Amino acid sequence: MTHVMRVRASKRTSSGAAPLAPALRRLVRAAVAARRRAYAPYSRFTVGAAVLAVGGAIYTGCNVEDASYGLTVCAERVAIHTAVAAGRRRLRVVAVAGAPGISPCGACRQVMDEFGVETVILVSPATEPVVLALRDLLPRPFARRAGSAPPREARRAGL
Ligand code: THU
Repeated sequence: MTHVMRVRASKRTSSGAAPLAPALRRLVRAAVAARRRAYAPYSRFTVGAAVLAVGGAIYTGCNVEDASYGLTVCAERVAIHTAVAAGRRRLRVVAVAGAPGISPCGACRQVMDEFGVETVILVSPATEPVVLALRDLLPRPFARRAGSAPPREARRAGL
């Protein structure tokens, strides 16, 4: 992921982490701006997300809650579905902005995998963005390409 890892050698943030490339700083800003549009009257937990598609376009989303709580949709999925509805099915990076400790739910991690997301950036006020690999957040996604064969461990265990 050269566009994630590329850094200017001399610069380091206060946490010692490498600074983000300009495209990713734009993505982070878009996620923070999207958070302001969150519709979260029930939980009061506002979240914004921004997706970087292959080719460089950015799509945003916020969480949208409902009086029937189970109809709530997370910011990440709103952003990803917006990208897909715009014709972008190959996605690279998702930035998620929310309160400290924000981290995408399992359902959103699975949807990120569906569209090829490799990198997730967690963004909270007053802290440096945290850059993570989706593989670390979701080591074994469900995938049709895995077919019907049971995992190797299960076969070894005779299951
Ligand atoms: N939420 C998100 O939008 N993204 C996350 O990563 C975690 C949770 C939303 C769903 C709901 O509107 C609120 O946060 C509280 O769960």
